[in-house]
Amino acid sequence: MYLTNEEEKALEGEYGEALGQAYRVLLAVGELLEAKRLIRIASAHISGVNYSNLGEVGLEFLEEFSRGARVSVYTTVNPCGADLYEPADYVPELFLDRQRRIREAFLRMGCNESFTCAPYEAENKPAPGSHVSWAESSASIYANSVLGVWTNRESGLSALASAVSGKTPEGGVHLEENRRPGYQLVVDARLRDYIDYSLTGLLAASRTDATCIAFVGMRRPGGVEAKHLSAAIGSAGSSSMFVVRDGREAGVETERLGQEELDEARREFYSRPEPGSNNLFILGCPFYGLREVEELARDVAGRRARARVLLQVSNSVYEEARRRGLLEALKASGVGVTRGACGTLTPVDKWIEADAVYTDSLKGAFYLRKRGVKAYVSDPRQIVRAAMG
Ligand code: F3S
Repeated sequence: MYLTNEEEKALEGEYGEALGQAYRVLLAVGELLEAKRLIRIASAHISGVNYSNLGEVGLEFLEEFSRGARVSVYTTVNPCGADLYEPADYVPELFLDRQRRIREAFLRMGCNESFTCAPYEAENKPAPGSHVSWAESSASIYANSVLGVWTNRESGLSALASAVSGKTPEGGVHLEENRRPGYQLVVDARLRDYIDYSLTGLLAASRTDATCIAFVGMRRPGGVEAKHLSAAIGSAGSSSMFVVRDGREAGVETERLGQEELDEARREFYSRPEPGSNNLFILGCPFYGLREVEELARDVAGRRARARVLLQVSNSVYEEARRRGLLEALKASGVGVTRGACGTLTPVDKWIEADAVYTDSLKGAFYLRKRGVKAYVSDPRQIVRAAMG
């Protein structure tokens, strides 16, 4: 990969060890992608913030790195493992301590206090056509497929390196030729709701490692449908984006999704929540935007939670919800609104000894099951009905 004189100097550590490390990461990624050069990015989004994922080794690296590193572009970050604004009493002290240190490291480097996996909802909105470096698969797939923003599916480390250098290798889906579908799924089934869209994404992504998936004959997904379709693709495979086409393209690997197969997948993951106070209900995976919060506030009005219900939002969506009086309504109904924290990848279920977890997200149920948790996906209305009196 060609480097300019300035980039060579940065690589050699002339502008500090942290920047040198960042360039070494970008060089390795660039060579893997066979990129010819580095390009400037409009923003970065970094994953690997939750202590449950990062662990002690990751925390040590981050603390050390953040002493000398500063981000050079606008940078948002993924959720923590616990709400650090109003920590719940069930979160172990040691976990809170480690999570606070991770948070401090990111803020020290100049990252935005976003702590969200849906940065496109409020905190990070690049103009269509921009090149960015986003980790968090659900967000990067959404960026490529819905926002018209160009990003590879970055790892936490490569997105951090890009945030510090302001650059990314010009390879993968930063190049037009790699954004053409390498696999198409003919959707010969009726998609009833956003959960069916999620299942379609999950099934497609688990069958191919094509960078771009084309869905043929499927109604173009709307806001929530596209959000969950992106998240499901990210959880089950390595694809970086999707497109929706009216007709098939010749010469592209093609498979069909029939109603029977979709229904079978739905039976495997979907369940109406059983009433029971020992279930945990998680809403907002990926995090809710303001419109989803508004809808939920309407649905829970006049009800009272009989079980633990967690709603996951970013700090800025939380503040906007407070300004609009939505927060009060949710709290009055007993909904636990958590800020900047992902309860899916954190053992909240163990901490509170829940029997089962019901989530409005297929990605959520998929990951919870990977951790051995009894988990199901259900739509928010069913969840509200089961969890609240
Ligand atoms: Fe976000 Fe956690 Fe789900 S990071 S997408 S809430 S698994």
